[in-house]
Amino acid sequence: MCGIVGYSGIRPAAPILLEGLKRLEYRGYDSAGISVGHEGKLTVVKKKGKIKKLREAVPPKIQGVYGIGHTRWATHGQVNDENAHPHSDQSGNITICHNGIIENFNILKSKLLEEGYIFVSETDSEVIAHLVSKFYDGDLEQAVKTALGLLEGTYGILCMHADEPGRIIGARNGSPLVLGIGEGEMFLASDVTAMMAYTKHVVYIEDGEVVDVTPEGYHTSDLNNRTISKKIQHISWELDEIEKDGYETFMLKEIFEQPRSITRGMRGRLDKENGAAHLGGLNLTSQELLNIERIKIIAAGTSFHAGLVAAHLLESLARIPCTAELASEVRYRNPIVEKNSLYFAVSQSGETADTLYAMRELKRKGARVLGICNVVGSTIARESDGGVYIHSGPEIAVASTKAFTSQLTAFYLFTVIMARMRHLSLKDGMVFVRELGEIPSIIEKVLEKDSEIKILAKKYAGAKDFLFMGRGINYPVALEGALKLKEISYIHAEGYSAAEIKHGPIALINEETPSMFLIPNDELREKTISNMKEIKARKGPVIALAVDGDSEVGDVADDVIYIPRTHDLLYPLVMVVPLQLFSYHCARELGRDVDQPRNLAKSVTVE
Ligand code: M6R
Repeated sequence: MCGIVGYSGIRPAAPILLEGLKRLEYRGYDSAGISVGHEGKLTVVKKKGKIKKLREAVPPKIQGVYGIGHTRWATHGQVNDENAHPHSDQSGNITICHNGIIENFNILKSKLLEEGYIFVSETDSEVIAHLVSKFYDGDLEQAVKTALGLLEGTYGILCMHADEPGRIIGARNGSPLVLGIGEGEMFLASDVTAMMAYTKHVVYIEDGEVVDVTPEGYHTSDLNNRTISKKIQHISWELDEIEKDGYETFMLKEIFEQPRSITRGMRGRLDKENGAAHLGGLNLTSQELLNIERIKIIAAGTSFHAGLVAAHLLESLARIPCTAELASEVRYRNPIVEKNSLYFAVSQSGETADTLYAMRELKRKGARVLGICNVVGSTIARESDGGVYIHSGPEIAVASTKAFTSQLTAFYLFTVIMARMRHLSLKDGMVFVRELGEIPSIIEKVLEKDSEIKILAKKYAGAKDFLFMGRGINYPVALEGALKLKEISYIHAEGYSAAEIKHGPIALINEETPSMFLIPNDELREKTISNMKEIKARKGPVIALAVDGDSEVGDVADDVIYIPRTHDLLYPLVMVVPLQLFSYHCARELGRDVDQPRNLAKSVTVE
C-alpha cells in the first residue's frame, strides 16, 4: 500500500527519492510527494496521480541532500494534492510521511483545532506534523517520541525539521520500516526494493522503535529513550530481479520465472533417495512433528488459495486433518486453539494486516504459528515461531503468480515430511518426490503454449462474466483462476467446484458466459466431464484444461489447452500457469494496467 522513502547523505536527494518511490510503485498508490531540505528550508512537492506527474512537478534545479518521500493509497480523505504526503506543520519547518492509520486522529485533531492549529488536509496523518510541532523545543527525536506516545493505531513514519539539516527521525508501529546503510549516506524505506540500487546492508526497524538518522550514522531506541542495538543484515535479492529484464510487464516476467523460482524453493530441500524432504526453519523436533494432530492455515487472497490446496494435500497424502481459513475471519471469531494443532500463516509480502493480526491473536492464545513467506525479514516471518521462506524472489506485479506456485512448493515439501513420518512408504515417497522434482520442466512446456493461449484470450476477452470450475485439489485453482482474471482484466469471474454449479450457478449460463474447466486425469475426471456437458447443453462456451491425449475432453469443449501429465496431487502447480497466462492476455487485450490494476495494492497493510 503506501510507501515511504528517506535519504540523508551527500548526493542530491530528489532524484534518489523519486527513484525510490518509482521502485515502490508496485505496492499500489494514487498520489505521491517528496520534501527536500536545503539551507534551513524544507520544500514540499506533491501530486495526485502517478510518479511521472510528480517528477514533472519537481523543479529541475531543486537542491538539498536530505529528504523524505511517499506514495499514498487513500484511506482518509479523497485522492487529491492536499491529502498527498508529505504533510507539514503550520510553519512549514516540519514535514512528515506516514504509512498506516491513526485510529484516534479525530480526538487529537479536535484538540489541536481548539488550540488553534490549522489543518489543510482531510488525512489522519496531518495530526502527526502538528503534534511534533507542538512538542518541538530544539530536539526533533524527542518531539517525535512525545507525539508518538499519543497515537493509537499503526504507523511507519519519517519526519524532518528545517532547523536540523540532514536529520531524519523514523519510527515504526505496525507498518514496515527499513534502514539502509551506505558510505556517508543513509536510506530509509518501507521496503528494501527502494534502496537496493544503493546498498544491501540493512537494519529492520521493529515495532516500538525509533531511529535517528544522519549521513554519518544512526541510533535506535524505544519511546522511553532506551538504546536498542540492532543487527545489520544483508539483502540477498539482486537488482535485476526487481527489473523487467526485457519483458513487457513484471507480471509476464514473473509467470515465466516459475520454473526457476520453484527450483529455487526446492533446492537443498528435496531428498530423492529417501523419498523425503528437509525444511530447516520449522523449529520443530521430529517428536513434535509426530505429535501434530491438526493443521490450520490462515491467509488472504492468492495465499489463501495456496492454503486451500495445501489443506487438501495434507489430508490426502499425510492423513492429517487440515483446514484453511481467511485470516480476516479468524481474528474476530475468538478462535479456539486446540492442543497439538499447528498453524501456518501464509503471506507473500509477510505484511498483510489481516494475516498478521490473526496470527498475533492465535499466538496470544498459545498457538504455535509457522510462517510461509517470501519477503525475508518481513513482520510475519519475524513474529512467527519458525517457518519456510519460499525463495521465489521479489514479486513486483500486484497479481501474485510465482509466489503462489512457490507457496505450494513449500507445502508439498512440508507434506512429504509429514506423510513420510506417517503413512507414506519409501517407494511412494520416492515416486512423489521424483514427480515433484520434474514440475519445473513440465511448467516450461506449459509456458511454450503462451502464443496459443494469447489467441484464446483474444477470442474470449469480450466476455462480461466468466466461470472457472475445478474439483478436488484443483477447486482452489479454479478460485485462483477467477481471482487472477477479475483483478487484472476487471472481467467479472467466479470460481466453483464443478459439482456445485447445478446447485445454483448454472442459472448464469448462456451463449455469452464462458466457463473454464480444469480436467486433470484423476478420479474426478469423468464426473467433471459430465458437469462440462451440462454447460454445453445450455449453450455455454467452454474452454478446458486437459491432459495431453485426452480427446474425449476435446470432443466436448470449444477450446482445449493441453498440459503434460503429472501426479494427481501435483496438478495445481501445472494447471494454474495457463490460467495466469489466460488472465494476463485478456487484460492486455483490454488495455489494462496489468502490473498495477486499479484500486489494488501489492501489500495490504490495513484491515
Ligand atoms: O502478501 P500476501 O500473500 O499476504 O497477500 C495476500 C493478498 O493480498 C494477495 O494474494 C492478493 O490477493 C493478490 N492481489 C492476488 O493476486
